Amino acid sequence: MAQRRKSDSQVRKIGVVTGGGDCPGLNAVIRAIVLSAINRGWEVYGIERGFEGLLHRDHVHPLTLQNVRGIIHTGGTILGTTNRGNPLELNVVEDGETKHVDVSDKIVEQFHDLGLESLIVIGGDGTLTIADSLAQKGLPVIGVPKTIDNDLMATEMTFGFSTAVTTATDAIDKLHATASSHERVMIVEVMGRYAGWIALYSGVAGGADVILLPEIPYQLESIAKKLHDRWRRKRNFAIVVAAEGARPEGGEMIFKAHEEGREPRLGGIAEHLADDLHKLTGYETRSLVLGHLQRGGQPTPADRLLATRFGAAAVRAIESGEKNVMVAFLASTIITVPLAEAISKRKLVPREYDVIQSARDLGMSFGDE
Ligand code: F6P
Repeated sequence: MAQRRKSDSQVRKIGVVTGGGDCPGLNAVIRAIVLSAINRGWEVYGIERGFEGLLHRDHVHPLTLQNVRGIIHTGGTILGTTNRGNPLELNVVEDGETKHVDVSDKIVEQFHDLGLESLIVIGGDGTLTIADSLAQKGLPVIGVPKTIDNDLMATEMTFGFSTAVTTATDAIDKLHATASSHERVMIVEVMGRYAGWIALYSGVAGGADVILLPEIPYQLESIAKKLHDRWRRKRNFAIVVAAEGARPEGGEMIFKAHEEGREPRLGGIAEHLADDLHKLTGYETRSLVLGHLQRGGQPTPADRLLATRFGAAAVRAIESGEKNVMVAFLASTIITVPLAEAISKRKLVPREYDVIQSARDLGMSFGDE
């Protein structure tokens, strides 16, 4: 599309912000937004470091073609992001005391002062929930779903997921060699608080022996049975993939930290399991936490493509007058869904999902039988 020249009063101005944890493909979305908007003769303003950036004029900058050159393949976000703080109840320390302050009205006011028409918010459920509250206060929003966890019900796929699964699968592939050489049980902990999509996909793609998901509580004895079975068949090693939110039947998830105003941090299930399984079976065990490696690195081509489609579709949504919607991937195409509806439901792995059935058919264990 050739760039159209417009008089100053005709120029449409939009903002873009990234919020929550970073995710491979964020830069590809920003690039798609900037190119699509500039090709329409619009201006794009980047808000740095999440919504709070709107409170500081020096955190709001025009995004030009130059800014988005050569970033489709890069991880992270050129705008910066944060998963600390919610503008509706911001932690402010006054006289040594922490208070919650609602700065949302100020954010909406600043947005309008900047002469912006719409704000494209790229974020996961937490960020989009905040965006929905701002939308109710009069800030026109277009949401773009982002999460490596792929756990938003309104979209079949989020960008970042393919990259995270690729990273996790690559790690599982590498661990096979060392596990078999040493005749060990290797336990890999992958991200996924409440939904086990990364564990399931990487576990199946990597040929794991046991996959533990938050959705299917495990019994230690059932995992031990699978290990003994392998040793009996002279396959004297095993790979266990555990989502960070995996938990034993009747037990709890393992938390690392609870910080005020933030989602609790999970972590430690792999080490915990390694100890328990060693005690129960006598096999030598080792654990590995992949952690934030899964959020870094170059986005896969699939993530770049989805991110590009989301970014361009967000601009088209603004052009056609939509607001308070989220772009989503459904039945191989990009649609828009009401934002309030998009944030209302988390997408968990269904127990009867065909990928689970196929994995069971192949003899993989979910620690529950
Ligand atoms: O929601 C994305 C996610 O990567 C989760 O899978 C993980 O539990 C969490 O973010 C980690 O967040 P933080 O960057 O605060 O450690």
